[in-house]
Amino acid sequence: MGAGYVGGPTMAVIAKMCPKILVTVVDLSQKQIDAWNSDSLPIYEPGLEEVVKVGRGRGNLVFSTEIEKSIAEADVVFISVNTPTKTAGIGAGRAANVKNCELCARTIAKVSTSDKIVVEKSTVPVRTSDAVRSVLEHGANPGVKFQVLSNPEFLAEGTAVDDLERPSRVLLGSLQSDAGLKACQVVANVYANWVPREKILTTNLWSSELGKLVANAMLAQRVSSVNSISALCEATGANIAEISRSCGTDPRIGPKFLQASVGFGGSCFQKDILNLVYLCESYGLNECAEYWNWVVKMNDYQKSRFSLKIVRSMFNTVTGKKIALFGFAFKKDTGDTRETAAAFVARDLIEEQAKVHVYDPQVSREVMMMEFNYTLGLSEATKPGFGDYVITETDPYEAADGAHAIAVVTEWDEFKTLDYQKLYDSMSKPAFIFDGRNIIDAPKCREIGFQVYSIGKPV
Ligand code: NAD
Ligand code: UGA
Repeated sequence: MGAGYVGGPTMAVIAKMCPKILVTVVDLSQKQIDAWNSDSLPIYEPGLEEVVKVGRGRGNLVFSTEIEKSIAEADVVFISVNTPTKTAGIGAGRAANVKNCELCARTIAKVSTSDKIVVEKSTVPVRTSDAVRSVLEHGANPGVKFQVLSNPEFLAEGTAVDDLERPSRVLLGSLQSDAGLKACQVVANVYANWVPREKILTTNLWSSELGKLVANAMLAQRVSSVNSISALCEATGANIAEISRSCGTDPRIGPKFLQASVGFGGSCFQKDILNLVYLCESYGLNECAEYWNWVVKMNDYQKSRFSLKIVRSMFNTVTGKKIALFGFAFKKDTGDTRETAAAFVARDLIEEQAKVHVYDPQVSREVMMMEFNYTLGLSEATKPGFGDYVITETDPYEAADGAHAIAVVTEWDEFKTLDYQKLYDSMSKPAFIFDGRNIIDAPKCREIGFQVYSIGKPV
């Protein structure tokens, strides 16, 4: 249930790896299902088309809106629906909204006439499985039994197919009863078709649910830690890349997730940390809540620090200036813009009345505008004329033509190999580059004549 960024790729890989299993992916959205059945998939993910084609071609991967019929026929149901941060009511702005999970459980209970294993794949607050189990048991048809498992997903966007085909681990939580452990083995056996047994970790239900939130919180914490040090580097003349390298060489620290940036984005890091913060507060663990909340605060600081740097460097005014924004997705190799730092930077520049020309190889204007509206409440309705300040471009050279500055906000590989001399020649002078991803060749660009600012590096 749920044909989104997780449900689609996850189930497509199960279908590819398990030819004898029929996988039906259902969603409420006809548009989403039609796209999964077409040549133009609803999400961009390297290698995904090939995987989907294998299952669709073989006939064991089906996308459908026939939710009730598909569930009635299934032995195992994965709930893979969105669990966004609540926008109103108790815990608004922090707690996760598990409404969609509960709705799924109600539908499953109503239409099931045979026993089923129900697997929470969505990221949920710890003990959501209790609620799911309660809804299932109270709504069950006579004689029908359910087992609830937790199987959170660890794929990252842009590398989803690889992450699913070669996962670092598969986490499976169950009740420690005989029936719970048996159900756990059924799903473990599915994964064992391609995942080595030692990578299939089994735990109790609540460790699995909480383990997912903690994994994301710890990854985000590393980014916020390194970003906080990037500010200190800029103040002192140290270089964040050298610090990440020297710290990352210690095997106890490791090299991953130490890349300083304009700030992390994506649909989950902030949502899951806020969820963790809310959980801590709910149990009266205020110091723990405050500790994790600072990971988000540091990220907000990093995003606004970048915007401020642009305005300050350009003589404290960007009013009426053209600024090229390179990238809008929250990271490379995805068209996903949810919570992208790019939107915050663009918003700050537009508040200063700059004209922001955005080029991203995978993001359409429609998606960009939806993101401004959804995350920042910015639209023609709330700020008339707003759309005139965001100009979407299909070519990076056009985006930069006549611009006073380029701001790199997504680390698309293609930005590394652009002709920076050509870009420089077409720009207003002095021409600035603000590299929010530290991917461009700063010394070479300085030689060309650019004024270059990189995150956490000496100017
Ligand atoms: P998404 O918004 O891309 O997809 C969710 C889909 O569920 C939507 O298509 C929606 O129409 C559908 N849906 C909602 N309610 C439904 C219902 N009652 N019946 C059928 N379909 C329904 O969300 P996503 O990014 O795939 O995330 C899903 C979950 O996985 C979230 O809890 C998220 O935190 C978690 N997660 C996401 C990622 C990621 O990279 N995006 C990675 C790991 C975990
Ligand atoms: C993240 C986790 O990596 C996945 O394991 C998890 O399943 C997923 O969240 C989820 O639950 O949704 P994702 O958000 O797709 O995956 O992408 P990441 O690669 O983790 O990047 C998140 C953000 O951090 C991006 O904006 C990225 O640019 C930024 N980042 C990452 C940095 O700024 N520096 C780094 O060193 C690493």
